[in-house]
Amino acid sequence: MAVKKVLQYGEKTLREPSKEVHKVSKKVQELVHDLLETMYAKNGVGLAAPQIGVNLRVFVIDVSKNDEPLNPIVFINPKIIKKSGAVVAQEGCISFPEAYTDVKRYANVMVKALDRHGKPFVLEAKDGELLARAIQHENDHLDGILFIDHCVNRFETDEILSKHKLPPIEPEKLVSEPEIDEELKK
Ligand code: NI
Repeated sequence: MAVKKVLQYGEKTLREPSKEVHKVSKKVQELVHDLLETMYAKNGVGLAAPQIGVNLRVFVIDVSKNDEPLNPIVFINPKIIKKSGAVVAQEGCISFPEAYTDVKRYANVMVKALDRHGKPFVLEAKDGELLARAIQHENDHLDGILFIDHCVNRFETDEILSKHKLPPIEPEKLVSEPEIDEELKK
């Protein structure tokens, strides 16, 4: 186990799609440990393998509060199988130190994945809770999609990025989600 260097926005690996895990081998379990250790060291809510330079479909999340016991959840080969509703909330990312912006997300998601022992599970997160947003954020990392691609206001987001000396938005990467826009109008 080791705390790994987290790649920052601008590094190519963050934009590359990740590959499925074929076997939850000892190596994959080591990757899971590294992700957890690195996430906790950086006080993050989630961390995906590409952020530590490994393009495999693995991420970890822990949404427990400071006064609660740790509650790590490991997702291997995750798939979002249901999504609905919409919510706008501020997000950040360990690959974007100190930069936060408002993003659009589904409010409810259902995800299926393998746990760290290779056992399948299904998890539901609702009402725009942190877990629901974290699942979408981390799952995106596996497809080279970043939270800023979901931003509500690209001009405001660009200002925030420049303030933190990070590269600007890549307009061609912005995600269009008419379903979410429709929901937000309700
Ligand atoms: Ni992130």
